[in-house]
Order: sequence, then C-alpha cells, then structure tokens
Amino acid sequence: MDDVKFIDLTKTVALVEEQSYEAWREVLSSKGFIHGKNTAQVEQKLAARLGVRHAICCANGTDALVMGLMAAGIGKDDWVAVPNLTFWASAEAPAILGCNIVLIDVGADLHLDFDALKAAAKAHPLKACVLANLFGWASTALADIRAFCTTEGIALIEDGAQSFGVAVDGRPVYANAQVSTLSFYPAKVIGGCMDGGAVMTNDDELAKRLRSIANHGRAEHYSYAHVGMNSRMAELNAAYLTRLLDHADTILDGRREAFAAYQARLSDVPGLTFHGVPAGQTGNGYLTMLTHDTLSGDDMVAKLKARGIFCGRVYPETMDMQPPGKAWTRFGDLSRSRALSRALFSLPLYYGIEPAAVQHVCDTLIDVLKTEGNA
Ligand SMILES: Cc1ncc(COP(=O)(O)O)c(C=O)c1O
Repeated sequence: MDDVKFIDLTKTVALVEEQSYEAWREVLSSKGFIHGKNTAQVEQKLAARLGVRHAICCANGTDALVMGLMAAGIGKDDWVAVPNLTFWASAEAPAILGCNIVLIDVGADLHLDFDALKAAAKAHPLKACVLANLFGWASTALADIRAFCTTEGIALIEDGAQSFGVAVDGRPVYANAQVSTLSFYPAKVIGGCMDGGAVMTNDDELAKRLRSIANHGRAEHYSYAHVGMNSRMAELNAAYLTRLLDHADTILDGRREAFAAYQARLSDVPGLTFHGVPAGQTGNGYLTMLTHDTLSGDDMVAKLKARGIFCGRVYPETMDMQPPGKAWTRFGDLSRSRALSRALFSLPLYYGIEPAAVQHVCDTLIDVLKTEGNA
C-alpha cells in the first residue's frame, strides 16, 4: 500500500472546490473583501450550529483567544491559569496581554486538572482560566470547572479550536460557555483556505465588545471605544467556509467512522492505550491519542514512518518547556503533562481517509509492536 499521510485535505477541498471558484469570482467583482455577506453567513451558521447567541468571526484562533480575554477585561499582570499540555496559543494569548501565567497539570482525561485548578486558585489571585477542550473531545470536569469559575468570579475562556462537532450531554460544547473560541486553521475539522477564527458567547454586551475589539475597538467610523486589534476574517475565506459548513455533518461522520475503526482495532492491544472519548460526550474524530507503556511517542512516530505511515505528536513538549514558559509560574510538579508529552502520538486521520488505509495503519502498528516484542 502507498504511504499514508497524517493529514490530507484533498477530499475536504473537493467538497466545495467548484462552488468556491464561483463565490470568489463574486467577491472579487463586488470588491467587498471584508465584512461581507459570506462572513455574516458564517457567523449565522456557527451560532445556529453551536447553540450560541453570538459568533464573531476574526482572523485566526489565537486572536480569538486574545479577544476573548480582552473582552472579559483581562490584561497586564492579571493571573491566568493555563493547562501545561495544550497548543502553544492557549498560553501565548494571555502572554501577549502581559498576564501572569500559572501552568496547571492535566488529569487522566488529558485535560486541565480540576483539583489542581482549585488549589491554584487558593495560591494565586486568578482572574481568568483558559480551558482547552482538545483532541476531539472535552474536559470531563467541564461542568465543575464552569461552576467553579462562575462562583469564584474567574473568567473562563474555552479554547475550542479543536472541538467543532463535540457535544457534551447532547449539547454542542460551545453552547454553555461564557466565552469560547474556534480556529479555522486549514487542518481543523472545519478548516478555511486561509487563517480564520471565531469567538462565541451568549452575552449580548460581551458580543458587542468583541465585535468592536476585532475592528480596532471601533465605536463608529473614526471613533474608538476600546484599544482593540485588527482581526477581521477575509471574505474570500468566509466564501469558502460558509460552503464547507454545509458539509459539516458529512465531514464529521467521515472522521468519526475512521476514529471508531481505529478504536475497535487498537483498544485491546497489549501495552497500548487508546485514549477514547469520555462517557456522555460525542467526539468529532479530530485526533487519535495513543500512548505505549514502554515506547515513547518519538519512537512510535519513527518506527511507523520507516514503514510509510506518517503520524503526529500532539504535543511533544509542554508549555513549561518552551523558553518563554520558563518564566511562568508552575503549579505543582506538572509531572503528568510532561510524561504524556513524551508518550502521546496520533495516527493518520482526516476526512476521506480510506477504510483500507485505516486497517493498514492498524496492521502495521500491531506488527511494529510484535517486532519489538511488546505485543
Ligand atoms: C488548541 C488550539 N488553540 C489555539 C489554536 C490557534 O489557532 P490559529 O492557528 O488559528 O491561530 C490552535 C490551532 O492552531 C489550537 O489547536
């Protein structure tokens, strides 16, 4: 069999390619390059689909986090809790604003540890927490963390860059968040043809502020209520995205099927742990997250690459290991996130991956482990 790529966007793009050419021609002839009807459509479709009152499009998922923090009144020297195992932007956003970052370890669900968060809130005057719902599911302590943050007056910004399509107790994960964010980085479940993002909230005032912040803090033409930023979605991207959103269920079904096929084959392989979607949640099939008892993530990636299978490492280093992160406050020894970052690896998974390719990846992985004398 041919090599298997980690991500291949060919079939995703094919869903909307022809229609996009038409739509781009229309945008070019209208000259409405920002704040056009396609962006408005994306916002309407997101709000309806994600069960929120407001979705505000912006330039990327990192800006979405910065804007969410700014709208919640978080700024320089404020204390913000961030999980130690996440994509860099979850920590980068409060760092951009000059916040004091407290790195929190993760729990067995690979997400921010609730007990550690509670203890950190006693030790530091936390004003905000960035909770990243990662890998294609959500924190198992989501309801508890939301309730705790509300009671303690901690702004909770939910980084939902990876969680389009994730549901908790039958509701989209974004629906009950104070503020949540999305990234339309091309490789996401719903990815744009260029960078893009969105911030979601049910709070009308917050939504107004977010819309202003995304557009230089503008109140009216040439008058400014806030110091904001320039974070607007390109209409050409929105023209592609609004069409792709119409295929969201097809994309999610394809990803979930591939994820389920991997899980069925790999759940009982000795030495291997397939980290599944927690009970009560619907995953989106974004990533498979695996660890092996003795082989590291780097070992697994190298061995599979030698057999033509390209895997990912999400994430090979924790926040505290990055040079800027060394100056941040560490809560506890962060040992679980560090151990996981050494061990985690992810198998090829994308919309349109052939079932035969999934089986080939599983066969090869099992064979690699046998050869190693580990299975
Ligand atoms: C968890 C998480 N947060 C934030 C981001 C940042 O999004 P973007 O690349 O659109 O800025 C990403 C993706 O890249 C992500 O995976």
